[in-house]
Amino acid sequence: MTDPKFYQLTRTERLAWLVAHEQLSAEDAAFLAQQQPLSDEIAGSMIENQIGQYQLPIGVVQDVVVNGQTYQVPMVVEEPSVIAAANNAAKMVRLNGGFQTHQQQRTMLGEVVLTDLPDLKVAQNWVLANQDLLMQIAQAAHPSIVKRGGGLLAIKVTVVDQTFLKLALTIDTQEAMGANIVNTICEAIAREVQNDLGGTILLSVLTNAAFGAVTVATVTLDPATLATKQLAGNVVAQRIVQATRFAQVDLPRAATHNKGIMNGVDAVVLATGNDWRAIEAGAHSYAAQSGQYQPLTSWQLEADGRLVGRIEIPLPIGMVGGSIGILPAVQVAHRLLKVTNACELAGVIAAIGLGQNLAALRALVSDGIQKGHMALQAKSLAIAVGATETEIEPLVAQLVQAKHLNTATATAFLAQLRHNNE
Ligand code: MEV
Repeated sequence: MTDPKFYQLTRTERLAWLVAHEQLSAEDAAFLAQQQPLSDEIAGSMIENQIGQYQLPIGVVQDVVVNGQTYQVPMVVEEPSVIAAANNAAKMVRLNGGFQTHQQQRTMLGEVVLTDLPDLKVAQNWVLANQDLLMQIAQAAHPSIVKRGGGLLAIKVTVVDQTFLKLALTIDTQEAMGANIVNTICEAIAREVQNDLGGTILLSVLTNAAFGAVTVATVTLDPATLATKQLAGNVVAQRIVQATRFAQVDLPRAATHNKGIMNGVDAVVLATGNDWRAIEAGAHSYAAQSGQYQPLTSWQLEADGRLVGRIEIPLPIGMVGGSIGILPAVQVAHRLLKVTNACELAGVIAAIGLGQNLAALRALVSDGIQKGHMALQAKSLAIAVGATETEIEPLVAQLVQAKHLNTATATAFLAQLRHNNE
């Protein structure tokens, strides 16, 4: 008999495995084992009108190789197939040398918009001539980010729709996602411009179209590693290329293609205490920037038959700030992942998104996704009808053979199983 796989272990055994392999400290494993809720103090101070807590499972994708380093990637997600698919992709990619990633720059963008200005051209020229003054205002508005080596880098001024004066601010927020830093600087600059030029401040805020933090991940695969029981690897590879081409010309498919990518991206973003709505908004605005909503990944065959995948996605991820310093489970997730800076974290997240897409496309163009999904749905159903840890496996084995996968069937099978075991 071969050793059980990680996913076949009990939760306690998985935690013990991570401790034994020095991926998790004994304290962190004990914390996860206890599944403690947040203290009232933390939960009550995080949001307005707090009335309770909402639990989601945290899992791990094992051995994801990115830029030659191996990561255990935490994911928080409710959909049963997401981690299974990510693990599947991580394994295929590992056999092919891993993911390569880079984030060329990491800057956030803010917008200051004024209206009711008597002469927009004069206003635009004033901003151009007073860049130094506005830089000083920005520094004074947020001296601590300047001390940490960041702050306002550039101001671009345009007239939009012959009505709006728009200042686009490029800001280095260092290791923070930086919404507060950007908003503070934007508001200070808006006040200064209004003081000097008049008009009305319409809005001054960060933009989630974080195109200054685009992260690229790539992978090159030997098609043989993509083979399924029914299909040769090169056929799977060709179909993955075709499926991506289809997404480029069919918006309904592009939306689902990108949803699959975000399954992985959001789960890591959430586990690491980042703002997943910001990441979603950024990803979809990037996908739509040409005017035709596009897939965030591309898959191409090289002359030698290898399959090359690439994702390009804005990832304004933080390592500090927001809920990161507040939520104990997020801190455990960071200690499990062991990334040291925001750029490295963005790389891992982009890699997970690309892998998620690979696993989804491979399943879609070969067996279809339902086969794998049904087994996982059956497990969720077994748990939902109250199967205990030892009952789950035999119940799932029966459920995947069942004509109708629903609560009634699961309840009846579980009763039968218990009766047989009496
Ligand atoms: C399901 O959550 C995600 C997929 O539909 C993604 C895709 O179709 O590419 C499988």
